[in-house]
Amino acid sequence: MSLNEVFLAHLAQTSPHPLALDIVKAEGCYLFDRNGKRYLDLVAGLAVNNVGHRHPKVISAIKDQCDRYLHVIPYGEFVQEPQVRFAEKLTSRLPSSLNSVYFVNSGTEAIEASLKLAKRATGRTELIGCRRSYHGSTHGSLSLTDNPNKRYRNLPLLPDTGHITFNSPDDLALITERTAAVVVEPIQGDAGVRIPDKSWMLALRERCDETGALLVFDEVQTGFGRTGKLFAFEHSGVVPDILVLGKALGGGLPMGAFISSRERTLLLTHDPALGHITTFGGHPLSCVAGLGALEVLLEEQLVENAVRMGALFKELLVHPKIKEVRGEGLMLAVELGDADLVQRVVMGCLDKGVLGFWFLSCPTAFRIAPPLCITKKQVEQACGAILRELA
Ligand SMILES: Cc1ncc(COP(=O)(O)O)c(C=O)c1O
Repeated sequence: MSLNEVFLAHLAQTSPHPLALDIVKAEGCYLFDRNGKRYLDLVAGLAVNNVGHRHPKVISAIKDQCDRYLHVIPYGEFVQEPQVRFAEKLTSRLPSSLNSVYFVNSGTEAIEASLKLAKRATGRTELIGCRRSYHGSTHGSLSLTDNPNKRYRNLPLLPDTGHITFNSPDDLALITERTAAVVVEPIQGDAGVRIPDKSWMLALRERCDETGALLVFDEVQTGFGRTGKLFAFEHSGVVPDILVLGKALGGGLPMGAFISSRERTLLLTHDPALGHITTFGGHPLSCVAGLGALEVLLEEQLVENAVRMGALFKELLVHPKIKEVRGEGLMLAVELGDADLVQRVVMGCLDKGVLGFWFLSCPTAFRIAPPLCITKKQVEQACGAILRELA
C-alpha cells in the first residue's frame, strides 16, 4: 500500500475529501511535499506557526530540553523550570490582573477549564457565547460555539448556555446577574474574520462589570501577533477577566493556557481541590518551544511585520471579484461572495504552490493567515497567484 492508501485506510478522517498533501519538510514560510513541490504557506498550521516553521531557536530549545527531561508528573505538582520561565515571560507582557497561568493541552481544554473557573468564581451557571463563534470541539466549547453544523449531531449540549450577537449593543442586556461568563473572540476567526467596534467592546466590559459576569477572551486564534498586536484585546484596550490561549502559544507543539488573577486561579485549589487537572498540560517541550517562539516574535519584531505585510495584502488584492479583504495584521479574510469561486481559487492556488484555506462558518471567503515572518516578495507572489486565479 502507498502511504496515501494507508493514510486513508488507517487514519481516522475528518472529512470525505482531505487535501492529503504528503509534506516531508517545512521551513520558514514554505512546505515541501514528497515530490519536491514547494508550497508558500498562507495558513501557518491554522494560526500556529506564527514564527515560521522550524525556527532554529525553537528547534534548539526543544533539543536542549530533550536532553534534560520530558514528562515527569501531571501538571501542578513539581517545579518545572520550562513552565515557570514561560509563565514568567507571558505574564510580563500582560496587564497585572492577568498574572497567573494555567497550562493545558489545547485551545478547547483551556475553554473548558475557564468555564469551570467562571462557575466557581461567581457561583453562577449561565454561560454566554457569541453568534457565529468557534471555541473548540469538546462539549463545553461546542455549547458556546454557534455553528449549527458542528452542534446538531451532539445535542443536547451544556444546559444554561446562550448566545448574543457579536457587536450588537442591544444584546448586551442578555448578560445578567445570572451570568457566570461571557466568552468572546476579540476578533472572530472562523466566522470569516469579524472585527467588533471598540465602543461595543467597552460596553461589553461595562456590562460584565455591572452584572458581575466574568469576561473571557478566546485568543486561541488571535494571540501572539496574528492581528498586529501581541494580543488582540490590545486593539480595544479592554482587559478580560480570563484570557484563553492556544495554537501559536506552543511554538508549533500542542499547548493551551488560561490566564487570570492569582486570586481567581487559587479557587481551583480548594473546595474541592483539583478543580481542573491535566496529565500533560504544560509539557516541558511545549513550554520551551513556546518560550522560544515568544522570544523570536519579540526579537525579530514579527508583530510589526504582521502590520506591514497585512497592509500589503490589502493593497495588492484589488480585483472586481474581491468584495472585501477583512481583518487586522495577518488574520485576513478575502471575501468573494461566492462559495464556488472560493473553492476554485483555493484549489487553483494550491496547484500553483500557494496554500490558502477555508473558514468553518464563512464559505464565501478564504483565509490568509501566513507565518508572521512572511516577506514582501512572498506576499507579492501569493497575491499574484490569487489574482491570476480570479482572472
Ligand atoms: C478561536 C478558537 N478557539 C478555540 C479553538 C480550539 O482550539 P483547539 O483546536 O486547540 O482545541 C480554536 C481552533 O480553531 C479557535 O480558533
